[in-house]
Amino acid sequence: MTTNRTFTMIKPDAVANGHMGAILNDIISAGFKVIALKYTKLSEESAGKFYEVHKERPFYKDLVSFMSSGPIVAAILEKDNAIEEFRKLIGSTNPAEAAEGTIRNKYAKSIDANAIHGSDSDENAEIEGNFFFSADERF
Ligand code: PPS
Repeated sequence: MTTNRTFTMIKPDAVANGHMGAILNDIISAGFKVIALKYTKLSEESAGKFYEVHKERPFYKDLVSFMSSGPIVAAILEKDNAIEEFRKLIGSTNPAEAAEGTIRNKYAKSIDANAIHGSDSDENAEIEGNFFFSADERF
């Protein structure tokens, strides 16, 4: 079943570089409705849990350390075909390969500090949204 929802985080590099407002504007201008929104910071432990699926990958430790290095913005977003549409909006994981005009093309500098996360499936969007938001934090 397609839920039409996705989950995102504006990552510490984009927040630190002052791109939080511009990225939220790009997301809303692209037709995503904000269902839940939170400005927060992950501990190393919670970043480790969030990215647990990647724990065997060589960059896991660096990813966890980076994602807990500063504040982030977490959000649940809604749009038809949300997962695919959002991944189109943010562009490839490696900003050097991200299409012109995508969020990573505009605001990311490297593959490890790539400005934004987008869920890769309906199932993961549900799990990731639940990681940050309770039922009464969704509107
Ligand atoms: S994805 O989005 O799951 O298809 O991308 P994937 O390539 O599987 O990467 C999973 C997450 O790891 C991040 N990543 C890296 N971090 C640090 N160093 C390197 N080399 C690296 N390669 C990938 C990537 O940004 C993904 O994080 P999220 O938060 O899902 O974007």
